[in-house]
Amino acid sequence: MTQDELKKAAALAALEYVEEGTIVGVGTGSTVNHFIDGLAGMRDRIVGAVSSSEASSRRLAGHGIPVIELNDVESIPVYVDGADEIDAALCMIKGGGGALTREKIVAAVASRFICICDASKQVDVLGTFPLPVEVIPMARAHVARELTRLGGRPVPRAGFVTDNGNLILDVHGLRITSPTNLETAINQIAGVVTNGLFALRGADLLLVAQPDRVLRLSAA
Ligand code: A5P
Repeated sequence: MTQDELKKAAALAALEYVEEGTIVGVGTGSTVNHFIDGLAGMRDRIVGAVSSSEASSRRLAGHGIPVIELNDVESIPVYVDGADEIDAALCMIKGGGGALTREKIVAAVASRFICICDASKQVDVLGTFPLPVEVIPMARAHVARELTRLGGRPVPRAGFVTDNGNLILDVHGLRITSPTNLETAINQIAGVVTNGLFALRGADLLLVAQPDRVLRLSAA
């Protein structure tokens, strides 16, 4: 199976966790795109979706799935999203697609976070994938200096503006042994909107595709 076929297998496995008659939280990325395409097959059985990016909103709308504003929603039973890295505690690095802030907001409202990915995303220690940090533009240089003091090597993501009108610094060279501590520390830097560590609110369930099956893993 190709990596994309594995992503699709994980994504389609998540459909069984979608509760009929509810609003589904939808993440962003190539894995989630397969989930959205699968969700189209049951669009008459859900109320709609809350989306974490303009790209996912467009794809949902293209399938005729109602996209609902988060401010109009009180609860989301299930949020489905991919990850760039995930460890055994189901802490993640996310934001490779730059949608980390909206992803973190929708995940915060959801009762259950289901992560979908292929096995290449599983790691022992987070940090090989550069950690994305969304930054208010005027704070870019200050935040970069502070991230360097924390031991990272921040690199501005060239030519990229988030859906919120901000910049991304991708932080290289981190070996993240305390994800919750680092998530908190980076979010304390003035000018940071949020960072791509999802440790304080990690995944509740991981669906990871292997060539012969989809494994279901809960946090260790
Ligand atoms: C989007 O901002 C990210 O958090 C994605 O969830 C992550 O990059 C995984 O993307 P793929 O499914 O494309 O690998």
